[in-house]
Amino acid sequence: MKYASVTDRLAGLGGAKWAVHARARAMKAAGEKIIELTIGEPDVPTPGRLVDAAAQAMRAGRTGYSNGRGEPALVAALSARYTARRGRPIGPDQIMCLPGTQTTLYAILRTLVETGDEVLVGDPMYATYEGQIAQSGARMVPVPLRPEKGFRMQAADVVARITPRTRVLFLNTPHNPTGAVLRPADIRAPGLGRSL
Ligand SMILES: Cc1ncc(COP(=O)(O)O)c(C=O)c1O
Repeated sequence: MKYASVTDRLAGLGGAKWAVHARARAMKAAGEKIIELTIGEPDVPTPGRLVDAAAQAMRAGRTGYSNGRGEPALVAALSARYTARRGRPIGPDQIMCLPGTQTTLYAILRTLVETGDEVLVGDPMYATYEGQIAQSGARMVPVPLRPEKGFRMQAADVVARITPRTRVLFLNTPHNPTGAVLRPADIRAPGLGRSL
């Protein structure tokens, strides 16, 4: 069987991390006392109102395909919210709904990077980022997140790693796994955020 080259790029990435998670789950299921610090499962239940609304919609027959771009009412609500929040018009045609962050990062990287491009990402990082970047063919360039700076990404550390091949900066705030929250001044600093 001949596999696509992406399988080579992903070989050895991620599997070991998930094996630890699966083992913890299995131990928990077997009754062992496990404190799970792996995936960020919310510790609050989904509000009953949302569960009821979803169940009601399905009972009323809404079980077919939705609009692939996002339900028009949702897209309109997002447009209104982000227009108010950003203080400039964000039209429905600028909005696309995707099922979760992984799918979104996959789609975004497919549209922004080519093989050999570079993606800057704060280190330590969320478990899947390495694989997401590897699948795209780009090269991951870690930007150290320094404990003495409260793990907030520093513009100087970003600037020092920018090359002609840099295409993307992953900016993750609040940050997983450190919990660091960037301050407005961090984001405005030349090299980070809008000035990159
Ligand atoms: C920083 C970060 N990126 C991505 C994800 C994955 O998100 P999703 O489950 O929407 O794919 C998480 C989930 O906790 C996360 O914390």
